[in-house]
Amino acid sequence: MSPIASLERAPDRLRVTWSDGGHDDFHHVWLRDNCRCETCRDPAAGERLFDTVSVSSDLEPRTVTAADDLVIEWDDGHVSSFPSRWLREHAYGPAARAARAAQPTLWDASIAQDPPHISLAQIDASDEGRRRWLRLIRDYGFAIVLDVPTREDAVVQLAERIAFVQETNFGRTFEVVSKPDPNNLAYTSHRLFSHTDIPNRHSAVNLQLLHCIQNDATGGESILVDGFEAARRLQATDPDAFELLRTVEVPWRFQDDDTEIQNRFPVLHTDRDGRLVEIRLNTGIMAPLDTDPELVVPFYRALRTFGLLLRDPDLEYHFRMAPGHCQVFDNQRVLHARAAFDPSTGRRHLQGCYVDKDDALGRLRTLERQLAASDSVGVAAGDGPASHDARGGGHLPSTSR
Ligand SMILES: [Fe+2]
Repeated sequence: MSPIASLERAPDRLRVTWSDGGHDDFHHVWLRDNCRCETCRDPAAGERLFDTVSVSSDLEPRTVTAADDLVIEWDDGHVSSFPSRWLREHAYGPAARAARAAQPTLWDASIAQDPPHISLAQIDASDEGRRRWLRLIRDYGFAIVLDVPTREDAVVQLAERIAFVQETNFGRTFEVVSKPDPNNLAYTSHRLFSHTDIPNRHSAVNLQLLHCIQNDATGGESILVDGFEAARRLQATDPDAFELLRTVEVPWRFQDDDTEIQNRFPVLHTDRDGRLVEIRLNTGIMAPLDTDPELVVPFYRALRTFGLLLRDPDLEYHFRMAPGHCQVFDNQRVLHARAAFDPSTGRRHLQGCYVDKDDALGRLRTLERQLAASDSVGVAAGDGPASHDARGGGHLPSTSR
C-alpha cells in the first residue's frame, strides 16, 4: 500500500493525505525549491545548486502523481520526485514541527536517586556507548562521566571524543582551584550561587566539562539545577516575571587586566514558538542595569523570584565530586553552583574546558544515522529521550544528602 492515500490540489499547494491518517500541506514553491534531482542538488555535497531566487511563488505543477514517491512535472517541464518518507520527515504543519522540536527531559532534586552517568569505559566500548552519553547530555542537559584518569588534560581528551575544545579568555582549559589574586570567583573558595558561565559572550559557551582531579577539602559540594524546569515553574506561577526575564536585556560584563567582554542579553531566551532555548544568568558579572527606569524594580523582583526558585531544595541536585568524576553539562540550560570550601583542610582541583554543543549534537546525529543504517532495529530505539533504564552505567557514589 502506498504511504500516500490521496492528493488534493489547491491553487498554491498540494495536500497529501497519508494512508495511516492525517494530512500535510506542501506549497508548490517549497516543493520546487526542495527538488532532490541531480541538477538541482549536488549529489556529493548535498547542497542546493538550484537558484532559490528564480522560483516564482505562483508556479504550478502540470501533472502530479503519487505512489511511493510524489512525482511532479512543473509547467516548465522540470520533473521533481520526492520519496514519501522524505516528505513526512520534512512536513511543516504545526503537529509535525512540534514532534520534531527538542524534547528535554525536565528534572528536579529527585534525580539524585539515579543521576545520568556513564563510565569512560562504556563510552569507549562502542558507538552505542558514545551515543548513550550524548543522548544523556541532550535529554537531561548533563551527564557525569566516571573513571576519567585523574591527570591534567584528561578532560581535553574526554572533550575531544565529541567535539572541538572551545578556547576562551580563560584559556583552552581552566583550573578551578583557590588561588591568590583571582580574576574569577571560581578561583576562590567562596560559595558560588547557581549560574551559567560566560553569559557576556555573544556566542555563549554551551557545553562545559568539569573534571575532578583532587577533592580533599572540607565543603565544596557541587550543585546542578535544571534551569528549564525552574523557568517552567516560573512561567506557571508568575508569568509576568517570566516575561520580564525574557524581554529585559541585561548587560553582562567580564573585565580583568587583559580583556573586557560585554554584551546585552535577557536571562531567558525563547524561540518564536515560545519554547525556552537558553538561560544566561551569572549575577557575579551582571553590569549595572541600564534599562527603562520603570522596569528596574519589576525586573529585580522577577530576578529574585527566579533566583529563589533556582535554589529551591526541591530543584537542586547536590553531590560531591570525587577524583575521576567529570560533570558534562549544557551551560545554556543547567546552572551550576558550589558550596564554600575550606582550602586549609585539603586541596580541591577541578580542571574544566568548554566545547560547542553544535559539534556534540552533530556527532550524535551522525551516530544515530550510522547506527540506524547498520541496524534497522536501532531506528526505533533511537528516537525518544533516554529511558530511565538507559540513564545509568557504572557505579556512581551516593550523593551527599
Ligand atoms: Fe562556573
